[in-house]
This record gives sequence, C-alpha cells and structure tokens, in this order.
Amino acid sequence: MGQYIPNTFRMKVRARVWEEYHSVDEVRALLEKYRGERLLAIGAGSNLLFQGDFDGVVLHSAMRKARALDEDGEQVLIEAESGLVMDELIAQLCDMGLWGLENLSHIPGEVGASAVQNVGAYGVEAKDVIVRVNTIAIEDGSVRVFENADCHYAYRDSIFKGELKGQYIVTSVVYRLWKTPHRVLDYGHLRAVTGDEPTPMGVREAVMQIRRQKLPEVSELGSAGSFFKNPIVPQAVYDKIAASYDKVPHFDQAGGVKIPAAWLIEQCGWKGKRLGGAQVYEKQPLVIVNADNATPEDVMNLAQQICESVKEKFGISISPEVNYI
Ligand code: EPU
Repeated sequence: MGQYIPNTFRMKVRARVWEEYHSVDEVRALLEKYRGERLLAIGAGSNLLFQGDFDGVVLHSAMRKARALDEDGEQVLIEAESGLVMDELIAQLCDMGLWGLENLSHIPGEVGASAVQNVGAYGVEAKDVIVRVNTIAIEDGSVRVFENADCHYAYRDSIFKGELKGQYIVTSVVYRLWKTPHRVLDYGHLRAVTGDEPTPMGVREAVMQIRRQKLPEVSELGSAGSFFKNPIVPQAVYDKIAASYDKVPHFDQAGGVKIPAAWLIEQCGWKGKRLGGAQVYEKQPLVIVNADNATPEDVMNLAQQICESVKEKFGISISPEVNYI
C-alpha cells in the first residue's frame, strides 16, 4: 500500500495509489491512465470513514482558484475550483462583503465535496447558493455541467451521492452571492450573537464562535463533524415522544417533524461514552471523535450501538451522515 489518505477522523489508512490533479486536462489524463481500476475522488476527507486501506486509486483536486464570472447590480457569480478549501473561499467572500455563504463558515472541507454533500449549517445549505456544478465523467472524460435543479439536492444529499455515485468528478462550482444584505439569522441563538444588522464578516465570526463552543476542532481531535443525520419522523411518532418527555426539541418540516439526533442520543445516555478509541463527543453527541487511536471498527461499532439504542428507545432509525468507504 502507498500513501496515507488524509481524513479528519485521523484513521491510519492508505491508498494503493494517490494522485492529485491541477487541471481538467490532468483529470482526463489520470482517468485514461487508470481506466478499469477502482477509483475514488475525495476532498479533505472530512465526511468519510475509511473501513480500511483503499485498494485502488484515490484522486484529489489541487485546483484551487476562484474568480468572478459575472455581476450585476445585486449579485455576483463566483466560480471556485474543487480543491479550494471551502472556509478559505468563505473568508475571502466575507472580506469582499458578499452574502450567501457566511453561515457555512468554519465547516471543514473543500469546494467539490461540499457540493456533493450539500453541506449546511445555521439555516443555510450549499444548494441555496449553488448555480451549477462543473464535472468530468469518469467513464469517458467528457465535461458535464449540472445546473442546480439537476443535482437533486436535499438535506445532506445530492445526485452525486445517490443515482450517479462514483460517476463524476467535480472540477468547479459556481455560486450566486449577493452584494446587498441577505441575512439568515433565525437558527438557534445566532441573532443573539450577531445582533440585527451584522456584516457578512460579523455573521462569520459569530458562527465560528458558536461552532468552537460545540464542535471539536478537527486540527485537535479527529472527527467527521456530525456523524448522523437528523431524522424526520411522522407527526404521530413525535406526538408519542412529546407525551412522555418534557420539552422535546423539534422543527416542523415538509413531510414530518425533525427531532435533533443529538437529543435522541443524549436521552439514550451516550454523551461522553467510549468504545475502544472512539467516543461520543461530550458537548455535541451527534459527533463521534477519535479520542485515542480509534480504529474504523471502534467507530463503526459505536455508531451501530447508538443506532440500535435509539431504535429501541424511540422506535426511530437514525442513519449516518458520514460516508463509509
Ligand atoms: N441537542 C441536545 N444535546 C446536545 C446538543 C444538542 O439535545 O448535547 C439538541 C438541542 O435541542 C439543540 C439541537 O440538538 O437545539 C440542535 O443542535 P445544534 O444546533 O448543535 O445542531 P444539530 O442539529 O445537532 C446540525 C448539523 C450541523 C450544523 C448545526 C447547525 C446535521 C447532521 N448537523 O446539527 O452540521 O453545524 O446543525 O446548523 O444536520 C455537520 O454536518 O457535520 C455539522 C456539524
């Protein structure tokens, strides 16, 4: 096996081959070179759990430029290449006073993967500002442009994770940003931190402050952020739980009621619990951390036990947000 694969969970896993590309032509050349082999395109590895070494070719984008494509009175279209660190892009946009991505500040990861995963935080999802996603087809190296509607975006989901999984490599993403204020401040206590009329940089700083209080810094403690998605349950399921517990946190959604998985996991007594080197994060039980040389099995076993106990206590199936490789 070859080089270690970067991943924020800090699993010590290797790829048989690791390749970086710096241009669309280089992606095509690599696809030609490794035709027929097992391929995996990754970003920063911030939402992946490797179950072991990867016996194939891992491709990573080293294309990191961003440029303005077009602008009118109120909006600017920005194209960012897939390997650019999302938070570096957001810092630059906030510096320019542009609105749209500031609520996603401090999320680990790169532009390409964030469009696949439809990352979200504090009331904003990547899909809200994505205009189109430029890709290369793995099969024949052709260019394919996915307009926002073609991406079938949903909560932490897209066509690139479902129907077309493993078939396209994202080369760049085009976002629509606003020059005029477009504040989204109604999630949790965000407005209480920002005040009513923050700048994009003001929102960014508030989001970073909140995230630092609740979430582990991946530079200090391995994790993949939220390990599970928040489940949306039928009204009747929520009503039954609400009848037995005081103040069940919930958010009405199309098609049901969203109950924070963090609350369900906490009620099952998992906060801070350890299995081998893996641990349920004390401040936010939706996160599993690599507390001490965790193996992939430690993390998977802990995740499975959490799912089973939430199912047993509440009858609700929670599913991982993290992609198992
Ligand atoms: N809660 C508890 N116990 C806790 C922590 C939270 O019961 O220890 C309950 C509280 O009722 C709280 C609610 O969970 O109000 C929601 O908590 P929080 O605002 O931290 O958000 P979340 O639903 O747990 C989601 C995203 C995060 C994102 C935040 C903020 C998912 C899977 N996770 O978490 O995304 O940062 O909202 O928007 O949707 C990620 O995807 O990696 C991620 C960190």
